[in-house]
Amino acid sequence: MTGFDWVILPNSAAVGRYAAEYALEIMMDRATSDRPVTIALAGGSTPRHLYRALAGPLASLIPWPRLVFFIGDERAVPPDDEASNFRSAQEILLSKAPIRAEQVHRPRAEASDLTAAAREYEDTLKTVAGTPPCLDLVFLGMGADGHTASLFPGEPEPDGWFAVTRAPADTVERRRLSLTPRALLNARHLLVMVTGAEKADRVAQVIEDDGPLPMQRILHHRAGETLVIMDEAAAARVSRTAPEEDRQR
Ligand code: 6PG
Repeated sequence: MTGFDWVILPNSAAVGRYAAEYALEIMMDRATSDRPVTIALAGGSTPRHLYRALAGPLASLIPWPRLVFFIGDERAVPPDDEASNFRSAQEILLSKAPIRAEQVHRPRAEASDLTAAAREYEDTLKTVAGTPPCLDLVFLGMGADGHTASLFPGEPEPDGWFAVTRAPADTVERRRLSLTPRALLNARHLLVMVTGAEKADRVAQVIEDDGPLPMQRILHHRAGETLVIMDEAAAARVSRTAPEEDRQR
């Protein structure tokens, strides 16, 4: 049975805190198994509040030794480049967490051969998260065009579990690496964070209708748990009532 829930919060900071608290519940639950808890981090700016909440107020409650982090998608830049999603997660969260280097896997997005780098990362995903890879928790954002991770409208849907993709000409760094739709659909828990008025029309579209946009291809076809966490600005045009009452925090 496919389906997804959503919650609406006052602002982006509240979205980040709610996502962190929700993620903590998932981490604690999954930490009872004998396998590592596998987490894919989102890129862009929206997750920064989430990362601050995980590295700050909630840090003492998190089962850090059990966690293994992946970068859900990356721009084809070196890890110290300001456009790097790894750099952002590393600065705000990973460098502040009591974890060992081997608990973090990043794709070699600086490589000249991105196809080989994607294949190498997919192999790591399979080694840690199983074959086929079933990530315990994936964080995603969404662009105003309905893209998610580095899966963009109008681009061919990549095969496999982690692939080389392409962003539009007007975005930072066209060459990308990304979890594929198949990997996103196969995750146990998916937390999507969307904030900002500029995304309100697209949010209404992807929540209310299935369709060809990457976020639609994910939201409306997931078997696992999927939660969209929005601020009021992004949710302004959502007309459907949430499957559960909107939890205002
Ligand atoms: C990326 C992200 C991308 C992001 C959206 C939203 O590499 O850019 O993975 O999918 O989540 O573009 O970006 P903001 O959070 O900055 O609005």
